[in-house]
Amino acid sequence: MHSCKNSFLVPSLGEGLKRIPSGSALCLLLPVLIAQKIQVRAMGALSPLDPASYSRPEKAIIKHISLALTVDFEKQILCGSATLNFDVLQDINDVILDVSNLTIESVEAEDGSQLQYKVGDHVPNFGSKLTVLLPKKLDSGEKLKIKIKYSTDPTASALQWLEAEQTSGKKHPYLFSQCQPIHARSILPCQDSPAVKFTYDAEITAPEEFTVLMSALRGEVKSNKTTFRQPMPLPSYLVALAVGVLESRQLGPRSLVWSEKEEIERSAWEFAETEKYLQAAEKLCGPYEWRQYDLLVLPPSFPYGGMENPCLTFVTPTLLAGDRSQAEVIVHEIMHSWTGNLVTNRNFEHFWLNEGFTVFLERKVAASLINDSSEAKKSRDFHSLLGLQELNEAINDNLGPTNPLTKLVLNLTNVHPDDSFSTVPYEKGSLFLRYLEDVLGGPPVFDGFIRSYLSNFSKQSIDTDQFKSYLLDYFKDTDKLNSVDWETWLHKSGMPPIIPNYDTSMTKVITALLVKIADPSHNISHQDVASFTPHQMIHLLQQLVDKEPLPIDKLQKIGQEYKVNENTNTEIKYRWLRMCIRSKDSSKLKDVFDFVNGQGRMKYVRPIYRDLYAWQEVRNQAIDNFLKNEKYMMHVSAYTLRKDLHLAEKTKATE
Ligand SMILES: *[C@@H]1O[C@H](CO)[C@@H](O)[C@H](O)[C@H]1NC(C)=O
Ligand SMILES: *[C@@H]1O[C@H](CO)[C@@H](O)[C@H](O)[C@H]1NC(C)=O
Ligand SMILES: *[C@@H]1O[C@H](CO)[C@@H](O)[C@H](O)[C@H]1NC(C)=O
Ligand SMILES: *[C@@H]1O[C@H](CO)[C@@H](O)[C@H](O)[C@H]1NC(C)=O
Ligand SMILES: [Zn+2]
Repeated sequence: MHSCKNSFLVPSLGEGLKRIPSGSALCLLLPVLIAQKIQVRAMGALSPLDPASYSRPEKAIIKHISLALTVDFEKQILCGSATLNFDVLQDINDVILDVSNLTIESVEAEDGSQLQYKVGDHVPNFGSKLTVLLPKKLDSGEKLKIKIKYSTDPTASALQWLEAEQTSGKKHPYLFSQCQPIHARSILPCQDSPAVKFTYDAEITAPEEFTVLMSALRGEVKSNKTTFRQPMPLPSYLVALAVGVLESRQLGPRSLVWSEKEEIERSAWEFAETEKYLQAAEKLCGPYEWRQYDLLVLPPSFPYGGMENPCLTFVTPTLLAGDRSQAEVIVHEIMHSWTGNLVTNRNFEHFWLNEGFTVFLERKVAASLINDSSEAKKSRDFHSLLGLQELNEAINDNLGPTNPLTKLVLNLTNVHPDDSFSTVPYEKGSLFLRYLEDVLGGPPVFDGFIRSYLSNFSKQSIDTDQFKSYLLDYFKDTDKLNSVDWETWLHKSGMPPIIPNYDTSMTKVITALLVKIADPSHNISHQDVASFTPHQMIHLLQQLVDKEPLPIDKLQKIGQEYKVNENTNTEIKYRWLRMCIRSKDSSKLKDVFDFVNGQGRMKYVRPIYRDLYAWQEVRNQAIDNFLKNEKYMMHVSAYTLRKDLHLAEKTKATE
């Protein structure tokens, strides 16, 4: 392990500059400044497999990575080395990797000799091309091993470095990562494309009082060194790291929950049924192959509901509702163990294969936990209707029905995957699978296909055509698929061509109440919602968000009578605050800003900021609030919110 105190660790080298490693004649490299010119947004020479990567995995593909990194909280960097093991697939003279703001100290061959390399221009939010020149041609079938010594930049887009005050304990800093979709390149040089799957091991050094966790099986902890190994192949976006002063509780035979001590009891209670969910998932999908399934409850700035990092799901603390009502997020992350983590989208144009499948499976498994089968079907359809509402809002209100990002299969040439993120792949994808299930004869028929699909493509990365031809082949003896309009489902923008005939029994009472609420003679009373489950409340509020804003007096009556004013379930609170913004209730602005400043889950924060932006009188206040808090946000939240608020993209020079 080399130390972090070398002179090359100047935190912010200028863009395009690279320090030439000293002490090696071989390193008299062509000045990097004349490296190939990459135009912003027209990145040229990209992988034919993946428009978001420079790498060329069809020529040589990474099979295993060994990381040895030290966590430096003071400088806010990781430094150390990555050893990459390739299988050579075509004759090559060089290998190309993705990097983003990494400071490379040296690249070594297996025998320790120095290799020449060059780093291309940095394209903001995208990174650069690292070309490593080989001393001699390698033939197809050979192996290649290179060791890259490097350090990350304090602005690494995959990492969030929290100051002690930003944690619950307020005594120690905290670090966590979020690599999906294309941020792994800011932590390690790699082929940053989900088409590439590798196993990894790691040795991470951090001060002794910290716990280090990764998306892998945790091995020995020796004073300040923790070792990990991940024997299952995974794509780069599933490499994950978290370092904090943490505690754990056992949840089940293969599960621990981790969090800061302040949240540990609440976390252990909220997620106590994890083993039950795992078993229900295995019943549908086959054995869980990743061995350990732990949960890490992150600090509030975590940008997603959950992230399916293998062996260690990351979740937002906003799930700690105190009523286990947000268990579906855990079921969702568990289902990713199969769809996403075992069978992976080949690139993010086929993201629906990850997310649509996962939502589809999540709803089936969540329903299977209900004993009464007719109640189970009602509940599955009820959740699907909630999803349909969200899809409708995304397509008709946010993106617009002709927006190409509302297609199931995207074209991401020159589009950053973070810019394409929406609920569309989740809900349109899941709805498509539900439609296919209905067409083909329901769960008894379709479940068999799912198991076959999962086992056929396990440990592979695939695209939509492979899914389609596998389905057509599996069901070749039936003509039921003749009516499927593949072109519209997969390649046309807008709402799905067919909406399944969902059971509406759980939404009927809500629809009836909406009629009453619209009636001026109805006296709004807590009895209206006395029998509602938390999810029915969510559904009601979502419909009210989507309708014409209520007059303020009615809004305030609802706040009191339906007890949503003081509700701590964030799914309810989020929708309630949106209703208040839409009705322009300025007495609620403090609550709104407290809510968006108190957590960073994009699902909540982005629509609220968009609503605030649309409210002329508070637009500037919203922008000021964002700018004041931006430095506490994870990269992806700040990046997307800037777009939502029509602010200029932040470049490194302005940071
Ligand atoms: C880790 O421990 C070693 C040996 O005790 C020590 O030399 C080193 O400075 C420590 N590193 C960190 C980051 O704590
Ligand atoms: C994808 O978009 C690029 C750039 O806009 C375009 O050149 C290309 O033809 C598109 N590909 C397909 C398959 O439509
Ligand atoms: C998966 O299915 C494809 C298409 O039917 C087939 O060519 C391939 O061999 C199968 N792979 C495995 C691992 O079963
Ligand atoms: C409306 O409901 C409230 C609370 O339930 C009650 O106090 C009030 O008397 C009712 N008003 C009318 C006109 O029924
Ligand atoms: Zn997901």
